[in-house]
Amino acid sequence: MSLDVAAVKAQFPILDQQVYGKRLVYLDNAATTQKPRAVIHAIQSFYEKDNANVHRGVHALSERATAAYEAAREKVRGLLNACSVREVVFVRGTTEAINLVAQSWGMARLRAGDEILITEMEHHSNIVPWQMLCERTGARLRVLPINDAGELCMEQLPSLLNERTKLVGVVHLSNALGTINPVAEIIRQAHAVGARVLVDGAQAAAHMPIDVQQLDCDFYATSAHKMYGPTGIGVLYAKETLLDEMPPYQGGGDMIRMVTFEHTQYNELPYKFEAGTPNIAGAIGFGAAIDWLRGLDMGEIAAHEQNMLQEATRRAKDLPGLRLVGEAKHRATVLSFTMEGIHPHDLGTILDREGVAIRAGHHCAMPVMQRFGVPATVRASLAAYNTLDDLDALFLALEKACAMFA
Ligand code: ALA
Repeated sequence: MSLDVAAVKAQFPILDQQVYGKRLVYLDNAATTQKPRAVIHAIQSFYEKDNANVHRGVHALSERATAAYEAAREKVRGLLNACSVREVVFVRGTTEAINLVAQSWGMARLRAGDEILITEMEHHSNIVPWQMLCERTGARLRVLPINDAGELCMEQLPSLLNERTKLVGVVHLSNALGTINPVAEIIRQAHAVGARVLVDGAQAAAHMPIDVQQLDCDFYATSAHKMYGPTGIGVLYAKETLLDEMPPYQGGGDMIRMVTFEHTQYNELPYKFEAGTPNIAGAIGFGAAIDWLRGLDMGEIAAHEQNMLQEATRRAKDLPGLRLVGEAKHRATVLSFTMEGIHPHDLGTILDREGVAIRAGHHCAMPVMQRFGVPATVRASLAAYNTLDDLDALFLALEKACAMFA
């Protein structure tokens, strides 16, 4: 069976509109995806019927809100195939998840002379928290390079791993290049030297099944808004033994069991890491997005997006002056490129006037731009609702831009 894209698309009210008198063609899904009615309704229904704070009240609404919030946690557990909901910490998003690990696990574990290994294709959110940690601890940041195709130089990995390596941070699916990294192999090699591994799954979760037990990763971070859910909510998965050892990241309500001025006893997992009133509606929307996504076939989504990407790549190669940035063998969803003689931002503006929404910039991955010697790229990124008509619109608009600049 193949994905019924028209039926999928019909569930996204926002896509049914015109901008500048043109049909909206939304190709900025790596920045954020649009939300299906099921997610919008789940959030609206929560505020209309169940809104109350969680884990605190004894009244009916609070009990309903708590049940819905914890049901969402169970859905996230299922999405990632974590062993237990104790390993599922709600956070604002991937960025907060990585900062939580760096500040809690990292500050407790790292010493001067230790090493953290990341890759050249990381998003700033998987670079800067580790740099900050290195500044505070005297640890050293090392980087696994990428090749001209935008793939990790895996042959260099053994020489960068040693007994000083305490953590490896790697992106599952690159937002700037679309590369799908061999994370299972990286985890295997990292574990062999005793290092922990954090996988940045911000982009991956909407495009491929994730199984943290099979991967055997120590930490996995992802965001709801890149997988058809709301902004401001995401998850840090971590092995229970690690979360048990880690000190709290923030102090406040809900993360405690008992407080006196002399001493505070922390709450059990995962609440130890969820200080303050959480994003309840966000978590419920996240759960609804997972239900929605699981109502489709992930294999069919991946096959559809892969067909679209191949078609887009074929057309891109036929366009004179277009240079693809990132042509990894294992790639998904992202077409990143430059056009000779046209700055990516100008191109972005021209495409916008044609109704085509793409992202132009460094995609929060400046080292990738430096690696490829470009200030920025234009990035079209696909989701389950994109159609061949969308590609037609993109390439027509690109041809128009070329004609304007010729
Ligand atoms: N990290 C997001 C992107 O790639 C915002 O666009």
